Amino acid sequence: MKIDGTHYRSIWREADGTVKIIDQRWLPHELRIVSLSTRKDFADAIRDMWVRGAPLIGATAAYGVAVQMAEDASDASLSETYEVLHETRPTAINLRWALDEMIRLLKSLPPEARAEAAFRRAADICDEDVEINRRIGVNGLALIREIAARKGGGRVNVLTHCNAGWLATVDWGTATSPIYHAVEEGIDIHVFVDETRPRNQGAQLTAWEMLNHGVSHDLIVDNAGGHLMQHGEVDLCIVGTDRTTAQGDVCNKIGTYLKALAAHDNGVPFYVALPSPTIDWTVWDGVKEIPIEERAQAEVTHVQGRMPDGVIGQVLISPQGTPARNPAFDVTPARLVTGLITERGVAPASAGGLAALFPDLARAA
Ligand code: MRU
Repeated sequence: MKIDGTHYRSIWREADGTVKIIDQRWLPHELRIVSLSTRKDFADAIRDMWVRGAPLIGATAAYGVAVQMAEDASDASLSETYEVLHETRPTAINLRWALDEMIRLLKSLPPEARAEAAFRRAADICDEDVEINRRIGVNGLALIREIAARKGGGRVNVLTHCNAGWLATVDWGTATSPIYHAVEEGIDIHVFVDETRPRNQGAQLTAWEMLNHGVSHDLIVDNAGGHLMQHGEVDLCIVGTDRTTAQGDVCNKIGTYLKALAAHDNGVPFYVALPSPTIDWTVWDGVKEIPIEERAQAEVTHVQGRMPDGVIGQVLISPQGTPARNPAFDVTPARLVTGLITERGVAPASAGGLAALFPDLARAA
């Protein structure tokens, strides 16, 4: 996507071989681009959320493997790299998916061929992600078009949670791709952006994306969505996912479940933008089986922002010493999901719906 006329991806490899990312910890205040050059850099970048969002976590891990293969392409190094990167974040399944892709390929090759093949596969994973998201956009656009037509060309109001935008993927985003496609087509669209406490990915990243791309939007507090839905101000919700089970349960950023409940109670369609690498075919019941990341208490007791003197820092908002819980994701049961917008079309959130669109992947699992 473009920032001030320059096209960026969220991760890329320069002609000299350096892997670069946008360090998302400083957005929206500063656009900082950093190089990742060791396995430790990649592990830190994923764990400490310089990069985040399920597809981007996967793409970053793939490049992390490649960088390590250039350093040491032995079997021991390959296995250790899998472990080191895999343990960085537990919930987004794209991490395991990308690491499995890399391991499968590299184990079949002699060590001297591994680095080059790894960089090629990492680049392909990035390109595939861009194409998957573009297609999700086209498939989601059809839904937005229908609503626009039903409203006689009136404004389509979309609510989204967290950041499932281009910053969370390599480009386009998943939940935002239909929105960007609708804007390109000239559909009158408005986005309600949940701030998404505790890390405020909505306020800091999605709002920044919307502003950059001239998309009409309002930032809302996480508790406002239900009220807006009750008053007919939301036509549909589109969110992303970190892991979707074989029966269509959707794990996504904490608070997604509450939005789905409010949408269900108010008859608002609740769609999930789902790239196929985010399906975990080995898991059925999302509530019982998906590991939910618990992050630092400080994310809840503090907020980050830019101070009047321009310094980006964190401010304590609770009494010093108050304990906090910080589950980073929750699971929305399939029964609350209207449909899954995938690169192959829109599927009902059910085992049959997913298997019908992805018979090859369901069979292989
Ligand atoms: O903790 P984060 O910022 O990595 O969580 C991101 C989300 O929950 C996104 O909605 C999800 O990864 C889908 S990204 C296309």
